[in-house]
Amino acid sequence: MQGRRDRPAASFFHRLPLVAAVLSIQNLVKVYPSGTRAIDDVTLDIQHGEFVVLIGLSGSGKSSLLRCINRLVEPTSGRVIFEGADITRARGGELRRIRRRIGMIFQQFNLVRRTSVLSNTLAGRLGYRSALRTIIGRPSREDVAAAFENLGRVGIADKAFARADALSGGQQQRVGIARALMQHPELMLADEPVASLDPATSHSVMKYLEEINKKDGITVICSLHFLSLARRYGTRVIALKAGKIAFDGQPDDIDERRFKEIYGEDAVEVEIGPGRSTESMSAAEAAALALAQDSTTAAAKLGLPDR
Ligand SMILES: Nc1ncnc2c1ncn2[C@@H]1O[C@H](COP(=O)(O)OP(=O)(O)OP(=O)(O)O)[C@@H](O)[C@H]1O
Ligand SMILES: [Mg+2]
Repeated sequence: MQGRRDRPAASFFHRLPLVAAVLSIQNLVKVYPSGTRAIDDVTLDIQHGEFVVLIGLSGSGKSSLLRCINRLVEPTSGRVIFEGADITRARGGELRRIRRRIGMIFQQFNLVRRTSVLSNTLAGRLGYRSALRTIIGRPSREDVAAAFENLGRVGIADKAFARADALSGGQQQRVGIARALMQHPELMLADEPVASLDPATSHSVMKYLEEINKKDGITVICSLHFLSLARRYGTRVIALKAGKIAFDGQPDDIDERRFKEIYGEDAVEVEIGPGRSTESMSAAEAAALALAQDSTTAAAKLGLPDR
């Protein structure tokens, strides 16, 4: 007690973080109606500029955690604070304003297949403009210029007028990145963005994510299946196991023992293997259908703010 009384100022400042976190997740819990406890009391802070890689076995809660951050999945309890704003309590316009600062890309790309690359990219502006105008109206000159610029950044400006489904998987994911960049996000969530791609293409997509992280200072949280990719691109690795944090630290600190703690005794580490084929594009098809019927649902399926 004596020591405490001697250093009141020091202990006060000790509790203050040096830099405010871009994202603060506090005691987050997600229990699905089925009773599955997908996220079980997760607390963590993410600082500006980090490239956080989420790893863990299938079913460990990676997608649930990413989707609770932008409330594509509604958390059961706990708080998610983004740049000081409580996402978990935000409603209506405030939620939309927060969401448009958070980009998201998906394993299955979630593009509207029969629509042009340019239109898919322009869909990233849904959070800023009337959804109806974005879909049926004519986009503004500035938005078209921005779309070309973002497509250029991911090396596919020449594909702007091609149909999305005429592109290879890697090219489609680059459209996904360009679309998310249209939001000018401060945080980019990526849920297994390369799981449907072959190893070489995986690296080319990851390099674009690395570039927007390093050059634009966009904080990235990206789930990945392969530890080799996590080691190569992550500045920090967080492992989930049954909805709890099993590891949080530097990629190089994941040794054999920690690897087995995360993935189980029988697991062996592999380099990224042959890419899974790009299966049915059901999510994108659903989004296309929804886009025709209801722009709000479409926005949700596209992971975009539903303005
Ligand atoms: N919509 C849902 N309804 C009910 N249970 C769900 C739902 N989504 C996920 N779950 C369950 O929650 C747990 C975590 O799933 P989640 O999809 O978050 O894991 P993941 O780590 O992303 O897995 P994967 O690597 O296979 O993508 C699993 O047990 C899963 O079956
Ligand atoms: Mg998942």
